[in-house]
Amino acid sequence: MRDFEAEGTNAYRLWTITDGWVERFGPDVLISFKNQAVRKRLTTEYFLWAEAMGFNAQRMFERFLPKRNEERTAPKLILGDSSISSRSVVMERGLRFEIDFSIGYSVGLFIDQRENRTFVRKSASKRILNCFAYTCSFSVAAAIAGANTVSVDLSQKSLERGRANFVLNNLPATGHHFIADDVFEVLPRLSRKGEKFDLIVLDPPTFSRSRRGKTFQVESDFEDLFMAALEVADRDCRILLSTNCAALSERALEVMGRFCLKASRRAGSFHSEPRPVEFPPDSGASTIWLTLR
Ligand SMILES: C[S@@+](CC[C@H](N)C(=O)[O-])C[C@H]1O[C@@H](n2cnc3c(N)ncnc32)[C@H](O)[C@@H]1O
Repeated sequence: MRDFEAEGTNAYRLWTITDGWVERFGPDVLISFKNQAVRKRLTTEYFLWAEAMGFNAQRMFERFLPKRNEERTAPKLILGDSSISSRSVVMERGLRFEIDFSIGYSVGLFIDQRENRTFVRKSASKRILNCFAYTCSFSVAAAIAGANTVSVDLSQKSLERGRANFVLNNLPATGHHFIADDVFEVLPRLSRKGEKFDLIVLDPPTFSRSRRGKTFQVESDFEDLFMAALEVADRDCRILLSTNCAALSERALEVMGRFCLKASRRAGSFHSEPRPVEFPPDSGASTIWLTLR
């Protein structure tokens, strides 16, 4: 296994099997499973691995991966001291992010996006728009490299966690905006104001419902989202197209991207960052970068 700690990373996936995986978040471990057989297998494998590695987790959490979003619940503590705060801070290549095991189904950092965050950090972008920003990890990666950022998410609470991540990384408050609203309403508004960005992150959930009851279904609506984002994309803008929807492969994202480019009379090239080493093919998000020209 790669020495993540040497590169200042203590949040990473330990391994993935069909229907489950084990992740490390600093001193804590999270086991995610789709059924009881997988839960049992991962727990046994984890203890064998931990003994062989001499790794002593501070706490172990487990989380059931339901098919329906409504059935999602926060991870459960299965081993360790329940009086320790559910919050902790993890590192990723020198960046700090707050994790909270009690706040909801997701703990605060999607570690499968590590290489894409590093790409953002190295991109030398000046102005980035982070759509579906969640806890603003992409914005932090851009801001640390000197970019101004706009983070948009329906959830005010997630954006507050995003602000806390800015503070954790000693980033100034100036030059960074947090908009708690529907991306589909914010994009046309930014376009009407003539705003332009040189990097845009589009990482929507598979399904969501806005406060006004409007639904978003990634398979049918990603195209509209991308077309709206093109309206605020500068000439050489880089755009990340990303989804966790198993039915949308990188190839499918590229086909959709090419179709929209043609429809909007724009041109560009696509590339993918390497998958994080510990994510086998078909695990983690499907992601692809478009560079406009
Ligand atoms: C998959 S997470 C995004 C993860 C994030 N890109 C990251 O890497 O940490 C989805 C986020 O989209 C937000 N969301 C869902 N529908 C939305 C909408 N219509 N407008 C804005 N945010 C939305 C949710 O609140 C949630 O925080």
